[in-house]
Amino acid sequence: MPEIHLPIRTGRLVLRRFDGGDLDAFHAYHSLPETARFLPGPAKTFTQSMERVGRYANFVFEKEGDWVALAIEAADAPGLLGEVVLKWLPGRGQAEVGWTLAPAARGRGYGTEAANALLRLGFEELGLHRIEARLDELNGASASLCDRLGMRLEARHIDKWHYKGQWATELVYAILADEWRIGSRS
Ligand SMILES: CC(C)(COP(=O)(O)OP(=O)(O)OC[C@H]1O[C@@H](n2cnc3c(N)ncnc32)[C@H](O)[C@@H]1OP(=O)(O)O)[C@@H](O)C(=O)NCCC(=O)NCCS
Repeated sequence: MPEIHLPIRTGRLVLRRFDGGDLDAFHAYHSLPETARFLPGPAKTFTQSMERVGRYANFVFEKEGDWVALAIEAADAPGLLGEVVLKWLPGRGQAEVGWTLAPAARGRGYGTEAANALLRLGFEELGLHRIEARLDELNGASASLCDRLGMRLEARHIDKWHYKGQWATELVYAILADEWRIGSRS
C-alpha cells in the first residue's frame, strides 16, 4: 500500500492524524447519545474515547482490517470537528467509509467535503476499486451524505442488525473507482 501523505487540505478543511490533544473534543461529541444513535455501541465513556483516540492517532494501513482515521479541522480555526474513517475490507481493492461530526459542525457540508477527500485518497492514491458505506435506514443524514458523494444505493437488508434495543434495516451504498473518476470530472 502506498504511503499516506497527511495532512490533506480541501477548500475549507484540514484532514490530519489524530493526537492526544483531540481527546476532550472527541469525547465531547462521542459521549452524546445523539451521536451514538446510529453507531454500533452506546455513547462512549471517557476511557473508551481515550482508547479510540489512541488507536486513531497510531493507525497503520498495511493489511485487510486496518483503518485510515482522519481528524477533521477547519482550515481557518483549530479544533476537532469530527472524523472520517476508511476500513480496508477483505477482497481486492475493497473498503468501507464512515463519518461522524460534532453537532455544532453539522449542516455546513463539512462531512461531504471530508468524505469526498477520503474517497479521493482511496481511489487516486491507495488504488481501491470499490468503497461502500453501511448505514441504518433511519439515518437520513448519512443517506443524504452518500447521495451527495455520488454513491449508489445497492442493497437494503431488512432487520440486518439488532442494536439499541431494536431491529434495524441496513442500507448499503457504494461507488466504484470508474464511477468516481467520471463523477469527479463532471
Ligand atoms: C452523518 C453526519 C456526519 C451528517 O452530517 P451533515 O452535517 O448532515 O452532513 P454534511 O456535513 O455533509 O452537511 C450537509 C448539510 O449541510 C448543508 N450544507 C451547507 N453548506 C453546504 C456545503 N457547502 N456543501 C454541502 N452541504 C452544505 C446541506 O444542505 C446539508 O444540510 P441538510 O441535511 O439540512 O440538507 C452527522 O449527522 C453525524 O455525525 N451523525 C452522527 C454519527 C453518525 O450517525 N455517523 C454515521 C453512521 S453510518
